[in-house]
Amino acid sequence: MKVLLVGSGGREHALAWQLAQSERCDALYCAPGNPGIAECAECVGIPVDDIKALCNFCLDNAVDLVVIGPEVPLVLGLVDALDDLGIRAFGPTKAAARLEGSKAFMKDLCAKYNIPTAAYGRFTALEPALAFIRDKGAPIVVKADGLAAGKGVVVAMTVAEAEEAARDMLAGNSFGHAGAEIVIEEFLDGEELSFFAMADGKHVIPLTSAQDHKRVGDGDTGPNTGGMGAYSPAHMMNDALGRKIEERIILPTMKAMAAEGCPFKGILFAGIMLVKGEPYLLEFNTRFGDPECQTLMMRFDGDLLELLDAAAWGRLSGAEKNFSWRSETALCVVMAAKGYPGSFRRDTVICHIPEADSKPATKVFHAGTGYNPQGELVARGGRVLGVCALGETVADAQEAAYRAVDKIDWAGGFCRRDIGWRAIAADKV
Ligand code: AMP
Ligand code: GLY
Repeated sequence: MKVLLVGSGGREHALAWQLAQSERCDALYCAPGNPGIAECAECVGIPVDDIKALCNFCLDNAVDLVVIGPEVPLVLGLVDALDDLGIRAFGPTKAAARLEGSKAFMKDLCAKYNIPTAAYGRFTALEPALAFIRDKGAPIVVKADGLAAGKGVVVAMTVAEAEEAARDMLAGNSFGHAGAEIVIEEFLDGEELSFFAMADGKHVIPLTSAQDHKRVGDGDTGPNTGGMGAYSPAHMMNDALGRKIEERIILPTMKAMAAEGCPFKGILFAGIMLVKGEPYLLEFNTRFGDPECQTLMMRFDGDLLELLDAAAWGRLSGAEKNFSWRSETALCVVMAAKGYPGSFRRDTVICHIPEADSKPATKVFHAGTGYNPQGELVARGGRVLGVCALGETVADAQEAAYRAVDKIDWAGGFCRRDIGWRAIAADKV
């Protein structure tokens, strides 16, 4: 098979690494890819939002399957455009990607189909939004309706903070058009985990769980980021909780999407808040998480291409027999450019990745890397590397991942030193 993978981050490097190992993979292209991905795929310089160029590339190169990493091309309708040309794709249509692309759509769907989530209101005008905030009081959560690269959520601890967030978003100051409508919702107090499922429009296969570390600083302090690290499976996960998440959230959502005329195909990533042991849906993403995907791919044991192709064909039924998850914990430490998530320096030189990558249970995925004119590997983004390791326990995986991190010589970078801490702390009580 000829496969095109769309994206350029650590998630896509992890997917490319698994896809390239498939016996059925004759050619793997990645648009636009990165230097790490270039080790296992042929990178083609097409941006992820250039739908027409991506379609033309598939036609010109007789691509059999397109695997889409990030949300932007999904929300823009890449899968619909490929469908129109008869090109198979793994990912949701534009209508199904509204689960991620519109928080208002997602909340209304949950309300209509009794899927447990925080109570909410939708607003396009400021005065009713402010009245709602004052009526409910703080803490309260204000969200831009549309895509905002993971930054469209303000968890306000005071009424004044919530009012300011609503004002900024509705005035179009913070997130442009994405904030033309906002969702204001009840604050849920608990511990978060991520749960992943795969669907083909009819059948659903629950995958596994992970826990992300969204804040930039140790102990979950400082500003939010795209994710500073993750591990899988999440420490709170067990069979009973998995069943609750499937029965109350994943399966009802899949049924609801079919009933609404937009059956879901691809990865459904549920951000869950566990409140007193009960799961509530915080958000849906319609793709793998980054860096959660890196930990999932470390644990995946099977032929990923065969699985994604079965989903794209609508033939997922029974496919759970063909793969499994390694019982070990996988842990990913994100190395970012100093200054991230604020403004950060570019083009600082990174050395010794091969030394860090030398053990079979350790893997360094590239996210924001490039080459300078001298041919040296340099940082080109905020989140730059994902250093991953497998271990018998979270503590073992953590130790192995940081041993690899410490081999990397990159003066312009930093990372959190405590990825996995909640699991390790929970283990000690
Ligand atoms: P989202 O992009 O919707 O996942 O929100 C980003 C982060 O904001 C989540 O990972 C949570 O930490 C936090 N958050 C979102 N909604 C709520 C809520 N209703 N209650 C508490 N925290 C929330
Ligand atoms: N790590 C969170 C995300 O990919 O949205």
